Parts: sequence; structure tokens; C-alpha cells
Amino acid sequence: KSERTYAMLKPEVIPKMGKILSFIEGKGFKFNRMMLTKISATRAAEFYKEHLGRPFYEKLVNYISSGPVLAMELLAPSAVRYWRINLGPTDPVVARSDAPNTVRGLFGTDTTYNAAHGSDSPEAAARELNLIFNNLSSHYESSYT
Ligand code: CMP
Repeated sequence: KSERTYAMLKPEVIPKMGKILSFIEGKGFKFNRMMLTKISATRAAEFYKEHLGRPFYEKLVNYISSGPVLAMELLAPSAVRYWRINLGPTDPVVARSDAPNTVRGLFGTDTTYNAAHGSDSPEAAARELNLIFNNLSSHYESSYT
């Protein structure tokens, strides 16, 4: 069954977004919504609230709000799981040895500058999509709900 997930290219890879979009397209994802935008520090703090209190939280919020990101709703069968597999491990150094043909293995730098984000559950995807896209409706919504 087709599912949706929230994917986000982080600021450091915006100059190479074309290559990453080709990679994603090659994996069979459908681009349902896409927006190049800047996320305010307030919204980034809300977005990552499950990490509040972790040592990397502030750095993460500062980084995500530091420049443009490419926010995407991706559709595929088991999109949440499938996107995380294609993202690779959180740490791109680990990805390069264990899962080199992944977004983080190919395009990431370190655990902060790790190229892209992916929701970790369908519930998280719904929350994140609503937060970033402000409940703007999707043209294709009726085809998968
Ligand atoms: P992301 O998938 O966007 O979700 C949480 C983010 O926290 C993660 O990617 C990393 O970029 C960031 N992060 C930074 N340091 C760490 C760490 N030590 N462990 C996990 N995540 C980290």
C-alpha cells in the first residue's frame, strides 16, 4: 500500500540537490509536494522537540534554521521505512562503510551535516508534514488516504 513520508534535504546539500533528487527518483519515490524554504528557529525547535534535552539539540536547531532546506512529501509503498533505508545510518561516516549507496553515504559529512532527514513513523510523518507544509493540501492526497 502506498504511504507518505516527510523527507528534508538539509542546508549543506542544497547546492547539490539535483544529484540527490535524481537518486531519490531512481529509487521509485513519487514527489507529491516539494518546497524550498527556510525554517525559523522556533519552528525547528518544535520540529525536533523529541530531541529536547539531548546534547546535540541546540546545534541541530541552529543548523536546520541556518539556510534553505528542501521539504518533500514522498510517496512509495512503505515509504517511511523505504526512505530511511535509502537515507542510511545517522552518521555518514558509518554510512560510508556500512551502506555506501545511500543519501548519507553519498552526500553526508557528519552526524550534524548528514544531508537529509526522514520521519521515523507514519505518525511522525503526519506531524512533520503538517508542521512544515502548514496543512496546505496536496493535489494527490485523495489517492492514498
Ligand atoms: P535527523 O534524521 O534529522 O533527526 C535527528 C537529528 O539529530 C539527526 O538527523 C542528526 O542530524 C542529529 N544529530 C546530531 N548529533 C546526533 C547524535 N549524536 N545522535 C543522533 N542524532 C544526532
